[in-house]
Amino acid sequence: MKLILAPMEGVIDHHMRKALTSVGGYDACVTEFVRIVDLCLPDKVFNRISPELAQQGRTSSGIPVILQLLGGNPEAMAASAQRAVELGAPAIDINFGCPSKMVTRKMGGSVLLKEPGQVHDIVAAVRKAVDASIPVTAKMRLGYENDALALDNALAIEAAGAAELVVHARTKVEGYKPPARWEALAPLREALTIPLIANGDITSLQNYHRCFEASGCESVMLGRGALNNPSLAKQIKQSSHNEAIEPMNWRAISSLILATSEKMELDYPQEHIVRRHKQWLAMLRAAHPAGQRVFHEIRRMTVLADIKSELREEENRG
Ligand SMILES: Cc1cc2nc3c(=O)[nH]c(=O)nc-3n(C[C@H](O)[C@H](O)[C@H](O)COP(=O)(O)O)c2cc1C
Repeated sequence: MKLILAPMEGVIDHHMRKALTSVGGYDACVTEFVRIVDLCLPDKVFNRISPELAQQGRTSSGIPVILQLLGGNPEAMAASAQRAVELGAPAIDINFGCPSKMVTRKMGGSVLLKEPGQVHDIVAAVRKAVDASIPVTAKMRLGYENDALALDNALAIEAAGAAELVVHARTKVEGYKPPARWEALAPLREALTIPLIANGDITSLQNYHRCFEASGCESVMLGRGALNNPSLAKQIKQSSHNEAIEPMNWRAISSLILATSEKMELDYPQEHIVRRHKQWLAMLRAAHPAGQRVFHEIRRMTVLADIKSELREEENRG
C-alpha cells in the first residue's frame, strides 16, 4: 500500500508538504506542476517549485518529493526531466489531468487524453531521458469528455515505461463535481500490471474503504482530504495495520498551523499567508468542530498576528 500526498497548485507547496508529511502516513508527495512549453526552464523554476531538491528531494521527514511536469512537447519534457533529475528530483511525474483552459495540445494536461499516442510518446521520451533508477510516473483523469479512451491511455502510459499511474476518477468535463467514480478504476486496475493509485474524494477513512471496495485499489492519493484532516494518511495506515486509530486533536492541528506559519513568514508576504491560512482553515472546518469556530473568528481578519493569536488561544484551549 502506498499513500501519496497530491499536487495542488497554489495550495500544497513545500511548507504544506513539510507540515503534512510530519504527521505521518505518507510514502511520497508530488509537487505542483512545472509547465513546460518548448524549452527547458532555468534551474530557479525547478528550485522554486521543489525547494526540497536542495535536500535530496525529500521533505524534512524524509519523504520523497516527486517533481511533476506538465506539457505536450516530448523533447522539451524529456530535457526538463533530465535537468530536474540532475538537480536532485528522486522521480518524475507527468500531468495528464490538469483541466487547463489552454486547449492547444502543446500545453499538456487533460487535453492530451484525446490522443493516447501522444500520451505514450511523452511518457516514453521522459522515460528514455532519465536514468533507469529514476521512476517515471503519470497522473491522469478518466478522460477529457468521457471515459472512452481511459483504458487506451492507461495502457499507453504503461507501455511507455511508467512505474505507476494515478487516476483521478473523473473526466475533465466533470471537473470536481462529486461523486468521484471509483468503480470506473476497477477495469483499469485489472488490465494494468503497474500499480494503479486511486484519487478523488478520499476525504475520510470510511471513504478510503469505500473507494477500495469499488476500485480494488489499495494505494491512494490524497488531496483535499489531506487538508481537511491532516492525520488521514496516518489513520489509513493505522487501519490497514489493525492498529488503534488516533485522530489528531485540535490542539495539535493549531500547533501545526502555527509552526507552518513561522516557516511561511520567511518566504511570503503577510497577505499571502493570511489568504493561505484562511484557505486551510476553511478546509479544516469540514472535519473539526473547533475549526469551524476558528474559521468564523478569523474569516474577516487581515492581520497575520491576529490570526496567530486566535490559533494560540485555541492551542491553549486544547
Ligand atoms: C487547487 C487545486 C490545485 C491542483 N493542482 C494540481 C497540480 O498541480 N497537479 C495535478 O496533477 N493535480 C492538481 N490538482 C488535482 C489534485 O491533485 C487531485 O487530483 C484532485 O483534487 C482530486 O483529489 P482530491 O479529491 O483528493 O482532492 C489540483 C486540485 C486543486 C483543487
